[in-house]
Amino acid sequence: MHSTPFFHTAWQRQFKGALKPLTLADLNDLWHLDLHVFFDGEAYERETFRYLLTNPQVIARQIKTEDGQMVAFALAMIEPDGVGHITTVGVATAYRRRGLARLVLHEVERSFLARGVTTVRLEVKTDNLSAQRLYEHLGYVIVRRVPSYYSNGDDAYLMVRAIDLPAS
Ligand SMILES: CC(C)(COP(=O)(O)OP(=O)(O)OC[C@H]1O[C@@H](n2cnc3c(N)ncnc32)[C@H](O)[C@@H]1OP(=O)(O)O)[C@@H](O)C(=O)NCCC(=O)NCCS
Repeated sequence: MHSTPFFHTAWQRQFKGALKPLTLADLNDLWHLDLHVFFDGEAYERETFRYLLTNPQVIARQIKTEDGQMVAFALAMIEPDGVGHITTVGVATAYRRRGLARLVLHEVERSFLARGVTTVRLEVKTDNLSAQRLYEHLGYVIVRRVPSYYSNGDDAYLMVRAIDLPAS
């Protein structure tokens, strides 16, 4: 996929940047942004990202500012059963509520569809209301609670969406 420049013009949401594939060359930037976003101890190890970025079943996208700073990322995987799984998504604090998570997840969904994936699942912490609002906004629905899903013992909600065309 080629880099796609874009420009949000909505009031208070001006952002010039590019939506791009995420590759091994971006490993350090991704690791640092992930540490910034998941400061609560749920950040991935650098080597986990290395594994994900070299796995052909993984779809990885990022948004960079005009001056090349990574400000948003999403990683997703096509599971052996053919279901798409959103692994992680994050947006730098200063760039939130400008539609960047929505944009990067739409791109992931488009890539899923291009590879024949029509069902997508994800897990989200039961107390992560902003992420739940985002996923609901995109059309995901909670199907059940998963006890002790996270390493610290926290529960997750399993959310699912059937995709045909990206949500608005
Ligand atoms: C969750 C997160 C990725 C959202 O990123 P974002 O770029 O701010 O989200 P968007 O601007 O694309 O939001 C799209 C819609 O989602 C909903 N939404 C997003 N953040 C929200 C919040 N904090 N409160 C309420 N609704 C929210 C809104 O409906 C929003 O549309 P609107 O701004 O027109 O009202 C970001 O807050 C983040 O990185 N959080 C920490 C990491 C995290 O929790 N990741 C998810 C793990 S499962």
